[in-house]
Amino acid sequence: MAIAGASGDRCAGRSVVVTGATGGIGAATALRLAGVGWDVIATVRSHEKADVLLAAAAGRGLALRTVLLDVADPVSCREAMAQVEDMTTGGAWAVVNNAGVPQAGAVEDVSDEQARHLLEVNLLGAMRICRLALPWMRRRGGGRIVNVSSGLGRVPWPLGGWYSASKHALSAITHCLRVETAHAGVRVSLVEPGAFATAMLDRAVADLSSVDSVGGAGYERSRTLFTAVNERVPGPEPVAKVIAAALSARRPKARYSVGLDARFLIPLHTMTPLWLSDRVKHAVTGLPRTAPTAPTAPVEVAA
Ligand SMILES: NC(=O)c1ccc[n+]([C@@H]2O[C@H](COP(=O)([O-])OP(=O)(O)OC[C@H]3O[C@@H](n4cnc5c(N)ncnc54)[C@H](OP(=O)(O)O)[C@@H]3O)[C@@H](O)[C@H]2O)c1
Repeated sequence: MAIAGASGDRCAGRSVVVTGATGGIGAATALRLAGVGWDVIATVRSHEKADVLLAAAAGRGLALRTVLLDVADPVSCREAMAQVEDMTTGGAWAVVNNAGVPQAGAVEDVSDEQARHLLEVNLLGAMRICRLALPWMRRRGGGRIVNVSSGLGRVPWPLGGWYSASKHALSAITHCLRVETAHAGVRVSLVEPGAFATAMLDRAVADLSSVDSVGGAGYERSRTLFTAVNERVPGPEPVAKVIAAALSARRPKARYSVGLDARFLIPLHTMTPLWLSDRVKHAVTGLPRTAPTAPTAPVEVAA
């Protein structure tokens, strides 16, 4: 069992809500925080997945608690956060908005319904949780919020336009939230991971198996690229480590880019002229840059 205060983490014993903790970055974060003595309340969408997480924690000699939460559902958000308030003294000290979904596909192939769901989870859901947690933090005179964005929020990637847009929006709103809540002692950070092996990339590959309006090599090349990336990149632990550091730092940074790809590509993209970055994206994705030459009709030669 993790013993509060015995880990050397200066925040040991404090309560933190980690959303989307059933796998990938969320599970790694919940387990890491529990391991250094935080009182972790991990959110899950089913009892079955809660049992898997609790078993993983127990297997490491750790304790954490779970709450059912669907961030896309306002009622579920209110009920879950009310439950967290009952489980803690005056609500959690910190929140990690990690729950997220991918949405791969050309902009014109993503339906309103798919786009709405993506924005509900990746943007509105995170902000709903912030809105529900901020009164606890104000009453206490401080708290921490860590929002998990993506390197793709600052490096828009073709066939991932809607996902990039959702994370770009999360980045912008996190910036404003940080400024608006500083006076209340709330410190807000954005974590921008590059690619890490989780179920997310598999889901993105599955998205690319549906409609393909753009044609050409684009979808096929992106499926191969995502699959190859997922096989080669590390697991989610480095992201969990950075989230834990952001939560316990005396002066957390506004932004943390995690992974060589994110740390290299974000500044590079900012400095690169658009025409050049467009060329690179065409070359990497295989999306054609010019229209195919129209077949010319045979010229009739008069005898
Ligand atoms: N992996 C990467 O390379 C990468 C890179 C950059 C950013 N990120 C970001 O990192 C975060 C975690 O992603 P991951 O890679 O760890 O993916 P993951 O393994 O697929 O985990 C996503 C988590 O979000 C949960 N979730 C999905 N929809 C939800 C909803 N409506 N309400 C509550 N929870 C919901 C999932 O729960 P279920 O198990 O119930 O579906 C799961 O626990 C996301 O915000 C993602 O955008 C990931």
